[in-house]
Amino acid sequence: MLQYVSLLSCALFTLFLSFAISRYLRRPNLDSIPTVGPGGLLTSYWGALVFLFHARETLQKGYTNYKGMAFKVPGLFYWNVILSGPKLVEEIRKAPEDYLSAREGFSDILKPKYTLGHETIHNPYHVSVILTQLTRNLAARFPDIIDEIKTSFDDNIQLVDYEWKSVPAYETIVRVVCRTSNRVFVGLPLCRDPDWNDLVSGFALDVVKVAVTIGLFPDFVAPFVGRLLSNLPRSVRRGMKHLQPIIEERQKNLDEYGSDWDEKPNDMLSWLMDEAEGEECSVQNLTRRMLTINFSAIHTSSINFTHALFYLAANPQYVEPLREEVEATIEEEGWSKNAIAKMRKVDSFLKETLRFEGLSFVSMLRKAVKDFTFSDGTLVPAGSMVSVASFPTHRDNETYENADVFDPFRFANEKQVKEQACQQMVSTNPEFLTFGHGKNACPGRFFAATELKAMLAHIVVTYDVKFENKGLRPANITFGAANSPNTKAKIMFRKRVV
Ligand SMILES: *[C@@H]1O[C@H](CO)[C@@H](O)[C@H](O)[C@H]1NC(C)=O
Ligand SMILES: *[C@@H]1O[C@H](CO)[C@@H](O)[C@H](O)[C@H]1NC(C)=O
Ligand SMILES: *[C@@H]1O[C@H](CO)[C@@H](O)[C@H](O)[C@H]1NC(C)=O
Ligand SMILES: *[C@@H]1O[C@H](CO)[C@@H](O)[C@H](O)[C@H]1NC(C)=O
Ligand SMILES: *[C@@H]1O[C@H](CO)[C@@H](O)[C@H](O)[C@H]1NC(C)=O
Repeated sequence: MLQYVSLLSCALFTLFLSFAISRYLRRPNLDSIPTVGPGGLLTSYWGALVFLFHARETLQKGYTNYKGMAFKVPGLFYWNVILSGPKLVEEIRKAPEDYLSAREGFSDILKPKYTLGHETIHNPYHVSVILTQLTRNLAARFPDIIDEIKTSFDDNIQLVDYEWKSVPAYETIVRVVCRTSNRVFVGLPLCRDPDWNDLVSGFALDVVKVAVTIGLFPDFVAPFVGRLLSNLPRSVRRGMKHLQPIIEERQKNLDEYGSDWDEKPNDMLSWLMDEAEGEECSVQNLTRRMLTINFSAIHTSSINFTHALFYLAANPQYVEPLREEVEATIEEEGWSKNAIAKMRKVDSFLKETLRFEGLSFVSMLRKAVKDFTFSDGTLVPAGSMVSVASFPTHRDNETYENADVFDPFRFANEKQVKEQACQQMVSTNPEFLTFGHGKNACPGRFFAATELKAMLAHIVVTYDVKFENKGLRPANITFGAANSPNTKAKIMFRKRVV
């Protein structure tokens, strides 16, 4: 027995060593870019492991020493080149896709072949549907959005009189976001179907789990690991059970009455069916696309919102200013997209949450597919990953006054309001990078912002919230560059006592 174990570890070590050496030989020459942390042949593996657990500190150190320039940190299989400063950020934004590729960067992280489907990344026609149809229809669909927010909070929290009730925060938010988004994606009654909701929210977690696991192995084993772990075919089959009858019914109406038939549902599924061409029109491929949209919509929004809810619960003094704003606006406008747009404090609260927290310590991820030279002479060789140090940028005192302080209304003071649109949550700039920046910025941000603002507005006028035992915010959970609130933490709700 012992023999086998030592034989096995010996084999593993040899394999590891040969990776290290072959990687080293293939590794593009990045010597001119300073390294943060260990960078030698074998020590860079140590550096890659350190980054998994101390990404925030590593990035801060790099930013402090090399602000406005490039530095690099080792990943397991490639170098990560990290940039900062408005000048370089603009250069990334403008770099052509065939040099610094957002698509390839995304692909490397999410392993779409085993998680979302290859076509989803390489023929992203749904992105333009999200940018145009979804964004344009926000006002028209707002009554449904707010209705679903109200009913799904009711259904999930189920309060009795004025009693406090403790609920798992993240799980509750995922349910609300899932139903609300799906009201706009597939409409009633499917958006309330438990199996559909379970599939869609579970799918996203599967994608991340599978992608992260495959990412721990070198490329040539990815197909084996991928096939072993992939849930994609099963998820698509399960989704088709729900969507097949709907798609076929709509297709029938389309064939019969043309693309503007009366009572054609005004939802994501319809918009996709309008846009899809050729093989993408099949039930299977439409289902896969719907799962992808869900994937991008649900957990990112839920994570961001849970952070915001935690700040609210830990700081009761923030509630009153929000309530006043929401009630005054609703009194004037009623619940509408327009009313939501006027809520500057609500917007600022969420924007500050995104500045302060964010899903990731880096953003604007790109893969260099050809050698690319920045204006300061930094050469990024093909094969490296490039990204921007968003966390240290967001916490830089030179950009944001008292950057280390969570100041919920910092974007809603008089001066900021005068500058109007450019200070709102959905506008991106080199110093606010949560959604990325430029043509690859998150296309769903207009929808997400409206949804999250409506949720926050609804919560402050409907409930009181707090942590159990006067608790403070629980610590975040981080892994590599990813940052998440504690997803197990509970929060207490009660019907608002006026
Ligand atoms: C996304 O997920 C929700 C629930 O998780 C589901 O109801 C909805 O139909 C899904 N939408 C798509 C497009 O897959
Ligand atoms: C889905 O799309 C892919 C690529 O466009 C195609 O190869 C495949 O045949 C399609 N599937 C179906 C069922 O049409
Ligand atoms: C949540 O934050 C991340 C980055 O921190 C951003 O990429 C994402 O688009 C945000 N999502 C929403 C819905 O606000
Ligand atoms: C920003 O300033 C505060 C106090 O003025 C200081 O405590 C903090 O360390 C500074 N942050 C950074 C990232 O330098
Ligand atoms: C994580 O949570 C703590 C509160 O425990 C907060 O102060 C900290 O700045 C958070 N964010 C990040 C990105 O580390």
